Parts: sequence; C-alpha cells; structure tokens
Amino acid sequence: MREARTRFPAVMAGETVFLDNASGAQLPERVLDAMQHAMRTLQVNKGGHYPASQRVTAAKERVRERTAAFLGAPHDAEGVAFGANATTLLFLLAEAVVDTLEEGDEIIVTGLDHHANRDPWLRLARRGVVVRTWAPRSADGALHLGDLEGLLNGRTRVVAMTAASNLLGTHGPVADVGARLADHPARLVVDAVHHAPHALPDVAAWQADAVAFSPYKVFAPHLGALWIHETWRAELPDWGLSFLPTGPLRWEPGTQNHEAILAWGAALDHLTWLGERLGVPGEESERARWRAAYHAIDAYERRLLERLLTGLDALGAKRYGARGLDGRTATVGFTLQGHEPLAIAKYLGKAGIAVTAGHAYAERLVTEHLELPDGVVRASLLHYSDESDVDALLAELATIVT
Ligand SMILES: Cc1ncc(COP(=O)(O)O)c(C=O)c1O
Repeated sequence: MREARTRFPAVMAGETVFLDNASGAQLPERVLDAMQHAMRTLQVNKGGHYPASQRVTAAKERVRERTAAFLGAPHDAEGVAFGANATTLLFLLAEAVVDTLEEGDEIIVTGLDHHANRDPWLRLARRGVVVRTWAPRSADGALHLGDLEGLLNGRTRVVAMTAASNLLGTHGPVADVGARLADHPARLVVDAVHHAPHALPDVAAWQADAVAFSPYKVFAPHLGALWIHETWRAELPDWGLSFLPTGPLRWEPGTQNHEAILAWGAALDHLTWLGERLGVPGEESERARWRAAYHAIDAYERRLLERLLTGLDALGAKRYGARGLDGRTATVGFTLQGHEPLAIAKYLGKAGIAVTAGHAYAERLVTEHLELPDGVVRASLLHYSDESDVDALLAELATIVT
C-alpha cells in the first residue's frame, strides 16, 4: 500500500492529514488525468454521429459494464444507472417503488443507516405506507437479525439497510437478510456507500434487489450509482422521457456527468492495478483482481485500525460500535470526556487534521440510538492512509486530554 499512497497527489502534498475519508476519498493521479482527458477531448454529448460523441458513448457504456462487474452483477450492465449521488438515486428508487405499493404495505429502515437510505422511504408514509425502524442494539451499535424478525410480516415490501455504517464502521448483516428474504416478497435495498471503499460489493452474495453506492467514496469524482435487479426493474415505473427506449437511460434522467463517469473507470483501473501488483495476472477477470486488491486493502486497514484503536483507548476515548477489528470498517466514532466533538474537530482542523464531528448524516443513530446529541468525532482510514496519519491524530488528541 506504500506505493498506492504515492499515487494520490493530495495525500502526498502533506498539507492535510486525511482522516475524513468517509466523507469522500482522495483521487489517484490517473483519475485526475482521465477527468481532464474527458473534458479536453470528449466534452460532447453522447449518441452523436461524430467520433468524439461515439467515443464518449462507448466509454460510458464500458464503465457501466465494469460497474456491474464491480457490484457482482457482471452480466447486468443494463441494471446500472449513474446519477448525481447515491441520495438522489435512492429518492428516485423510492418514488418509483411507491407506485407499486398499496396503502398499509410496510417498509423497514434501520437506525444504523445514513439518512440517504432512510428518508426516501420515510417519505412514503404520506402515501399510507407504514415505515418501521430496525434499531441497532446500543451495546454494540449493530443490527441483530433476531430483532428484524419482530418487524417483518406479510405486508413488508422493502427492507432498506446499510452494508456498513458511515459513522461507526459497523457492518450491516446484508447477506443474512438477503437469505432471510429469499422466500419473502420483500425486496432488499442495500446502501453500499461506506462499504465500497473498504470491501468489494457482492449483490449476488447479498441477494440484493437494489444497491446504491457513491464512486466519489471509491477514489473517483463526485458521482452516484444504483443497480436494480432485473425482476424488480421490470415492475417499476422509471424516469425516462416518453420516447426513450427501455434500458438504463430511463433511470438517468437528463445529461449525465460523463467526465466523472469516465474518471470512475480510471478509479476502477487503480483497483485493477493494485490487484495486478498483488500477483493476480491480467488474464484473470477484473473482478478477481479487485478481489485481491480488496483483500490486501482489508489486511492493511486492519493493521492501521488496530494502531488507532489502541491509541484512542490509551487516551481514554470512549468508542462506539464494535470494540475490536471484526465486523467493521476502519472508521471509528469516539468522544473525549469533557470535550465537545465539534470543538475537537475544530482544534484538529487548525493542525491540518481532517475529521468529522456530529452525526455525519446518521442523525437518528446518534440522537436516538446512541443518545449523543452532540454526536461523535469520526476518523476514517482508507488504503492510502498510513501510520503517520494515525500518529498525527493521536499526538494532537493527546494535547487535548493532557
Ligand atoms: C453510508 C452512506 N450512505 C449514503 C451516503 C450518501 O451518499 P451521496 O453523498 O452519494 O448521496 C453517504 C455519504 O456520506 C454515506 O456515507
């Protein structure tokens, strides 16, 4: 991962210690180049009859295919739509789903989720849909499958849940829920936004019906993506203008950010490169190389996370969510007694250390389930982080507690 870090110019510039990575990742050089190349040479609309337009159309569709493979649905590029961000796409999904529901139908959201996968569903209450909340247990900040049982019934039509909490790092038991719903009419909608920079999504293993994620958290420019299973797509009204043929464009209303989509392709190249450096030969599928890349990312992030957790414990920080290294990402929510999270973030910010304070859009999680009106300080590591980042944070925190 040392070599990978050198590929991120903003990280190498050393001006900022990037520990607010769960808010958005930094970009490798090749992504910056791809973005610029797209804007210099392909800043035209798709579907035209001249070479630049044909190139941007083909390049966009190629990235769509690779995104389907990235999500674990390699033969279903048709199911992938790009958009401004995951929140927008989840609102589009929920507003389509509501037209297939009847009054009294039920939806389950979780107390662990970012509001991007809560509020679009809660909004459907206006149409007589009953929305229930699957609460995380306060002891470990985790969703327990047994607690879902009491909420699930014959009227449940959607379970919307996160694959990983952006505030605590805690994984949601998505594959268990997918298996539970296998012979139930409810559809499973997974928010993989926080999961995707840390672990390879797998819609097949999750038995998911829809998955949203944000390429801008996975080393690409600002962009969202949504995949919907073909059986569900067939039932849902879409957002296509009346003359558009069936297909993913009907889930992409208006002109898309082509330069960001093409640059997302370059972010996938970064992961492919990492997989190749780890010895997975080019003739293997790209997904095999991504799998190897993520395997190494996971091992590396765990080591850094251990250093961070040990340091925080030594400083007497109170941590929320999973205690150890398992069942979570390298994202940590913590407080320091006697110091408001916001004050800590501002203090760290003056030293060039980027963290988040408050609820990070997981507002219900902090106010209701963790009962922390001021939220937490969140530090999040990615594979371009290193010991110097962790040590800089711990050293600065030490000056607060002593
Ligand atoms: C877990 C999670 N879900 C959803 C979102 C919303 O993503 P977007 O900014 O692409 O709408 C975020 C953004 O921070 C997130 O962390």
